[in-house]
Amino acid sequence: MEIIQSEQAYSSIYKRSIEDPEAFWADIASDFQWKKKWDNVLEWDFHKAETKWFLGGKMNITENCIDRHLPKRASQTAIIWESNDPHEASKHITYQELSDHVCRVGNMLKNQGVKKGDRVCIYMPMIPEVAYAILGCARIGAVHSVVFAGFSAGSLVDRINDSGCKVVLTSDGSYRGDKKIDLKVIVDDAMLKCPTVEKTIVYQRTLNPVNMKPGRDLWWHEEMAKASTQCPAEVMDSEDLLFILYTSGSTGKPKGMVHTCGGYMVYTNYTFRTVFQYQEGQVFWCTADVGWVTGHSYILYGPLSAGATTVIFEGIPSYPDMGRFWHVAEKHRVNIFYTAPTAIRSLEKAPLSFVENYDLQEIKILGSVGEPINEEAWHWYHEHIGRGQCPIVDTWWQTETGGIMISPIANVTKLKPAFATLPLPGVQPAVMDENGNELTENGVEGRLTIKFPWPAIARTIYGDHQRFKETYFSTFPGKYFTGDGCKRDEEGFYRITGRVDDIIIVSGHNMGTAEIESAIDEHSAVCESAVVGYPHDIKGQGVYAYVICYDKPHQEENLRKEIRDMVSKVIGPIAKPDKIQFVSGLPKTRSGKIMRRILRKVAEGETSNLGDTSTLTDPSVVDEIKNGAL
Ligand code: WT7
Repeated sequence: MEIIQSEQAYSSIYKRSIEDPEAFWADIASDFQWKKKWDNVLEWDFHKAETKWFLGGKMNITENCIDRHLPKRASQTAIIWESNDPHEASKHITYQELSDHVCRVGNMLKNQGVKKGDRVCIYMPMIPEVAYAILGCARIGAVHSVVFAGFSAGSLVDRINDSGCKVVLTSDGSYRGDKKIDLKVIVDDAMLKCPTVEKTIVYQRTLNPVNMKPGRDLWWHEEMAKASTQCPAEVMDSEDLLFILYTSGSTGKPKGMVHTCGGYMVYTNYTFRTVFQYQEGQVFWCTADVGWVTGHSYILYGPLSAGATTVIFEGIPSYPDMGRFWHVAEKHRVNIFYTAPTAIRSLEKAPLSFVENYDLQEIKILGSVGEPINEEAWHWYHEHIGRGQCPIVDTWWQTETGGIMISPIANVTKLKPAFATLPLPGVQPAVMDENGNELTENGVEGRLTIKFPWPAIARTIYGDHQRFKETYFSTFPGKYFTGDGCKRDEEGFYRITGRVDDIIIVSGHNMGTAEIESAIDEHSAVCESAVVGYPHDIKGQGVYAYVICYDKPHQEENLRKEIRDMVSKVIGPIAKPDKIQFVSGLPKTRSGKIMRRILRKVAEGETSNLGDTSTLTDPSVVDEIKNGAL
């Protein structure tokens, strides 16, 4: 496989990838270990929301992430683990050790009757075992469904039941900064409503006492001790399921995005090596949680399939102080550092001494992901972390795309602050206007679609192909609709302007406003609510809730706290509203639809120019809302 190393190469390879995508991807795919080569590179029909890559190919992603490296790299570090507690020793796990642990997990699952195709839920902290758990599933062809360990019992129940998980892998607890979270208590709570779960396997991380239900709950260390380090890799078809990962929808319950083995492997590896220009021996640190797609693709599958050393960090950027990231980067001599704008914005506010205390000379390349990076944060990151020298790759992609789609290529293509810049080879964006016409010129603004498949595109929503088709392929028939707005400037560079649907991105986490509303509505005092996003200094977007109560609240602050606690309980702390405004009515059209445009403007602090309100049933509510704006 040819890795792009010059701007000219980018242009010519990009051109080739568009003219003959099948030849382009077949060439890249031939670099992997296949048990049987594919018969057909691609079959697709976006009108039916169907895509298949490397049809008939047989492989196992763990052989490509582990076994094939062993002859050369058995004793090379695969994973560096850094604890939440700076005083706890870090761990270096070699590729050989990774192989042993992953095989053990595979056998441990098999011993509990888990078979190819069964779904396994992983609800664990950022410890090496979460990597063993994920890869152990892949080893035996079980479909992993990782649920971010900050989600509530209710969210866990929804996800487990939607995909019918048979086993849950978890831990007694987890550490996050100065907090200790009793994960097993949350799992116990969830288990009351999860009839498909036969076994939970519990890793001891915090050693707090937990309830172990006989016949259902098993200790990880006991089961692992019984499992051998030899576990043949299950033969997987390219299109067999690798994992399900839930992402919020603009309406309804979260969507279980389905990714399959072959295309996902090829794409995450290719994009990892290309975008970050990964060099043999480098240490790569992606600060995301494995509960999100960024962690799947760029903590685990991308770097490991490339034979890299990847960092797993259990903690948070602000513990024990605002210098922790830089401390960890120095300690482990990190070469490529990939984080989210929200983290940069919060660290930027801390005194510079927190950065200056550390030697960051080893950092060569910086990355950003999850939301638009504002220019100020971009410059701070570039100057203070990148010493004014390191390129920043602003990588645009989604849970649904599986891997990076639009991004600079480090040290190869031009950077432009706040722009994700250019599509990677094989990615064919199209900007659409509201009437469904493609805007083919440069210097345009519209909705971002992709008109040709790439290998890691999600194949469906688990159990609901119809919803998949409606959500992504019906707005612009024949094209994949991202849900994002964008600009393409005169040079052809893309700038992602944000979601155009009812999804908000809070601290890089994708959330559906409908989901938050229904959590708020669970409070007995609440009659109805409407949630919108508003610009937030650090989080990018904050959650602004307009709430109608049955009776005018007497103690607004108390009720606000109760509502926040309710959201935290129903979804998780990440979804808690930042602002709650009590109102007596919401601006609704005669057909009963909430005019969110008005709510968004008020939340943004705009009180004039609210546009046409004449179609509202009761325009007077607008004045009340404006006057009570927070
Ligand atoms: C949404 C996808 C990408 C993995 C983590 C988030 C926004 C993501 C960027 C970027 C501007 C970005 C988009 C996208 N987004 N990266 N570099 N610039 N916006 O995955 O939770 O599925 O969210 O995140 O709005 O649609 P996700």
